[in-house]
Amino acid sequence: VTVAVDLPWHFVEAAADFVRRRTGLVFPETRRASFAAALTRACRRAGEMDPADYLARLGTHPPLLDDLIGEITVGETYFFREPRQFDIVRDEILPALAARHRRDRPVRIWSAACATGEEPYTLAILVREQGLTEATEVTATDLSREALTRARRARYSRWSLRGVSDAVVGTYFRPDGDRFELIPAIREAVEFRYLNLAEESYPTLSSGIWGMDLILCRNVLIYFDLETVARVARRLIDSLADDGWLLLGASDPPLQEFVACDVTVTPAGVVYRRPGQDAREPLRPAVSAASFVPWSAPPVESPPFDPLPPAIIETAPPVPDDPEEARRLYAERAYEGAAALARRLLRRESGDPGLWIVLVRALANQGDLVGAGRASAAALDRHPASAELHYLHAVLLSEAGRSADSVEAFRRALYLDRGLVVVHLALAGSLSRCGDLAGARRALHAARRALAATPADAIVPASDGESAGRLAEMTEARLELLRETAVG
Ligand SMILES: C[S@@+](CC[C@H](N)C(=O)[O-])C[C@H]1O[C@@H](n2cnc3c(N)ncnc32)[C@H](O)[C@@H]1O
Repeated sequence: VTVAVDLPWHFVEAAADFVRRRTGLVFPETRRASFAAALTRACRRAGEMDPADYLARLGTHPPLLDDLIGEITVGETYFFREPRQFDIVRDEILPALAARHRRDRPVRIWSAACATGEEPYTLAILVREQGLTEATEVTATDLSREALTRARRARYSRWSLRGVSDAVVGTYFRPDGDRFELIPAIREAVEFRYLNLAEESYPTLSSGIWGMDLILCRNVLIYFDLETVARVARRLIDSLADDGWLLLGASDPPLQEFVACDVTVTPAGVVYRRPGQDAREPLRPAVSAASFVPWSAPPVESPPFDPLPPAIIETAPPVPDDPEEARRLYAERAYEGAAALARRLLRRESGDPGLWIVLVRALANQGDLVGAGRASAAALDRHPASAELHYLHAVLLSEAGRSADSVEAFRRALYLDRGLVVVHLALAGSLSRCGDLAGARRALHAARRALAATPADAIVPASDGESAGRLAEMTEARLELLRETAVG
């Protein structure tokens, strides 16, 4: 059997299998013909190459795979899609988050599989209407670099605005020919990043995906096979902070059988919640975001950091007192157990910077930004020459919205170890948030050079298990986005 431009059917099958393994996207019989047509178009655009060569290059040239994914995924989306879900976000979720987090840490929202940006920008509009912009970070990710580029450009057709009232269009968009350009205040409220949901790169500090208070992951799980749905479901729940919410699209598969979470059925669909610690630890202290300070100037008013508060002694799980055990728990994403054990060990012996690193990362990955920030400051008092601790502290400053302070802290980490690729990458993010695009580009080039000298499958230090190949792809995508920003 052949399809247009004579692609042999076995090649179509092989390409579908490759795409499934890399992205989790599946094409049952009913959609095979449209997959074949998309493959034909992508293969043609790539030049008149032999299908076997094309398939081989698909694995090594990320832009080729992106181009194919752009063809095969329906990037269909629009502002205020499924409006009843946004009613819940506006009327229930944001007010609850505002009450709980405003004095504590930024509210963290993630639009996973954001396509061309309509969904995260809708969230940013709601956040602004509640007066929460300063207190909130909206992160948006997708696998399609082309969609991310268009999202960054934020110029939309009338069709994308079909769910929006004239009043909202008048307030947040400026007409430009037959397009509508989003105002800078909303554009700047969303940070776009590349992320393949089917990969194991999250939740981690380095991906920026961790401790989310609200995740929207709508109309993408529907394209995945069940095995991928199960894996992604667990990662989504792991990416939530305690008591955080997860909303899926109306046609997405139910997740209850894959993950332990609270489920509420509403007229707008199912709402998932990660069971909170609030019930278990009702007296978690509210600490102001101002308690994040560069390590060199610890706040006089803050109490000394106790790696082992009494509450944790009582609830500590019965695990061996072994630093390796703490590292193992962390690697298995058992963050609560890893943090408890690291604290217990550090109380006796604070000489192991590796244990502090486990503690800081485990707290952050649970969404306890304040606890992680204080732990990293305490760790740096004891281990001021640890580049990785400076890096973690800088990431936490950046996540707390203190980009300029984080730039300083990243530079301190680089001063101690110029070879830490993750620092160059994170520094680039902070510099571009500070408006220093040239500096961001230089940092990305430094990361690119270091990664080029590393085998693609080698695990990059301090990256939470990322391979050099994956980070190289991410670096190229970010350079591309910077080029777009400079042009647009
Ligand atoms: C239909 S759009 C959903 C847009 C938006 N969430 C909404 O509901 O309006 C699906 C998006 O999923 C993205 N996607 C597909 N597979 C993905 C993966 N493995 N990781 C991340 N994004 C993926 C596609 O690139 C596309 O932009």
